[in-house]
Amino acid sequence: MKYLLCCLGFIAIIVALGQRTPALGQAPDKDVRVDLENPRYTYRAKHSRDGVGKFYMGREIAHVMGHLGAGWLERPSREVEEKPQTLIKSLKLNQGDNVADIGVGTGYFARRIARVIGPKGTVYGVDIQPEMLELLEKNLGKLGIKNVKGVLGTIKNPNLPTNSIDLALMIDVYHEFSHPHEMLQNICRALKPDGRIAFVEYRMEDPNVPIKLLHKMSQLQVMKEASPHPLEWVETISALPRQHVIVFKKTTTTPAVE
Ligand SMILES: C[S@@+](CC[C@H](N)C(=O)[O-])C[C@H]1O[C@@H](n2cnc3c(N)ncnc32)[C@H](O)[C@@H]1O
Repeated sequence: MKYLLCCLGFIAIIVALGQRTPALGQAPDKDVRVDLENPRYTYRAKHSRDGVGKFYMGREIAHVMGHLGAGWLERPSREVEEKPQTLIKSLKLNQGDNVADIGVGTGYFARRIARVIGPKGTVYGVDIQPEMLELLEKNLGKLGIKNVKGVLGTIKNPNLPTNSIDLALMIDVYHEFSHPHEMLQNICRALKPDGRIAFVEYRMEDPNVPIKLLHKMSQLQVMKEASPHPLEWVETISALPRQHVIVFKKTTTTPAVE
């Protein structure tokens, strides 16, 4: 009898464990929902208040910065915190380059880049918020800058001409793309054959950088998210106080299978 009770107890434990362990191919827990349109993405009920509840490659996507916060992009302390001239110099731009400033906001960087590439170059200032593009135009008008072109993108596509861009620059924006995979696919398409792409993100590796976690990215995470695309890592620039600049160039090599 004792033996029988032991066996039943053992079977009950196995059954209970089995119910907690998901079978292969099933969602790992009931809080996780797979995006039916693109199963690379998942949604979780439990998530950070700074994020949208959508996850990509282990990272939660942050909320988009609304245009009502645009004043923050023009704050004078950016000179010290982000050293815009150091960043632009480190990108080694040439006169006549075509630069895509994706997530251009009010044009804080686009205006400065416009001077470096000169009248023969063009900055395509892409944003998904028409209100940001209005602020961009206003700021350009005040300074008489003619070589920055505002472009209204979508959440999946920056709407740039194919094979036209020397450098696609994403300053403090990639972490808030709602569709990072599609955005990188379309940005790669817009790059010239030897074009570059630069991720400028607050360093996740540095706990002293006073920015919310979801608005920071580690170098490893950027490498991971670039890996499905025809991109080859070129360099990581560490000249800025709080951000790293992770640069890739477009290759013809087939990307890693996901
Ligand atoms: C935090 S702001 C940074 C603005 C600018 N890069 C700067 O550093 O001054 C992010 C901007 O990216 C835009 N954005 C978010 N997702 C985007 C997408 N998929 N394509 C283009 N712009 C996007 C937002 O509308 C917002 O204006």
